[in-house]
Amino acid sequence: MPVNKAFVLASRPSGMPSADNFRLIETPVPEPGEGQVVVRHHFLSVDPYMRSRMNAGGSYAEPQAIDAVMLGGTVGEIVASRHKRFKVGEIVVNYGGWQLYALSDGSDLNKVERRSFPLSVYLGAVGMPGVTAWYGINRILKPKAGETVAVSAATGAVGSVVGQLARRAGARTVGIAGGSEKCAYATRELGYDACIDHRATNFAEQLAAAVPKGIDGLFENVGGEPFKQCMSHLNDFARVAICGLIASYNGAPTTLPDMRIVLVKRATIQGFIVSDDMSIWPAALGELGGLADKGELKYRETITEGLERTPDAFIGLLNGRNFGKQIVKLA
Ligand SMILES: NC(=O)c1ccc[n+]([C@@H]2O[C@H](COP(=O)([O-])OP(=O)(O)OC[C@H]3O[C@@H](n4cnc5c(N)ncnc54)[C@H](OP(=O)(O)O)[C@@H]3O)[C@@H](O)[C@H]2O)c1
Repeated sequence: MPVNKAFVLASRPSGMPSADNFRLIETPVPEPGEGQVVVRHHFLSVDPYMRSRMNAGGSYAEPQAIDAVMLGGTVGEIVASRHKRFKVGEIVVNYGGWQLYALSDGSDLNKVERRSFPLSVYLGAVGMPGVTAWYGINRILKPKAGETVAVSAATGAVGSVVGQLARRAGARTVGIAGGSEKCAYATRELGYDACIDHRATNFAEQLAAAVPKGIDGLFENVGGEPFKQCMSHLNDFARVAICGLIASYNGAPTTLPDMRIVLVKRATIQGFIVSDDMSIWPAALGELGGLADKGELKYRETITEGLERTPDAFIGLLNGRNFGKQIVKLA
């Protein structure tokens, strides 16, 4: 009898999570009932939003329940089916959580094809993070040729796609990332015109030099001091997409910019959640999948092997240890 292994939330963290906040459990792999399927997960996505869900409340979504399997996006293969629409062997993207197998009634399953890119990319550039980038670019920043777009966490799952989409729209792109290796990758591989290390002591000077014509579109993934600095370079009628504030997810205060800039520059600031408008997903995934298939959308992954190492991969993500999309390989 195959065994399903899963991580449940054992306790809520205060500050940075630790391995004790998770508990590994083992149960038999379920048999599908009428109208159900069993998915064997190949890859699991670990994402920053999981940290907010570990808190008791106060976010846009319901908190993760204690003793429930940790939530998370997955891609896998149907290994047993008693459902009319799904056959054994089909590949699906689902929200199966931190576990090896998931039982589903089909309502959360999206069939995908094997293409020229690995299946894990359906959790990154051609998945939720890619759609997040697409939403922020096409619905909020709307960059025009010759404008300047700045992006924080520029080599990450979302940021790497933001930079490439903004560049395709003809914008000058300026990334912000942690460390010289990530910055070199941003300019050499992702096509950013410049990338600045947020740990550099002369960050403010480097940013000023990188945006000589100011910033027209700011895609914010992190918050903190670099965000404040970017805000001080906004141009008239600049657009700011607040996608994430990862620097404060473990309790650090969010650093607010001087709000006079919003008035003086008549800037628009918009927070958004990628699930706000599900109608954009097919178009976004179609475009991103097409680009990735043709090799025109670059992506990078940090792949951690084995479910047991998921808490470590997640804590690494919250510390910037990942380089590109953080994935856990399960099969
Ligand atoms: N609004 C939405 O619907 C939506 C959807 C998906 C993601 N998001 C948000 O988008 C952001 C990026 O998510 P992602 O999945 O693409 O993650 P990611 O960028 O692949 O990984 C997180 C990156 O954030 C940076 N980071 C982590 N802790 C930091 C800290 N304390 N200070 C400064 N930088 C830190 C690190 O990059 P560096 O080493 O380069 O600093 C790290 O690699 C997150 O804020 C996330 O919550 C929002």
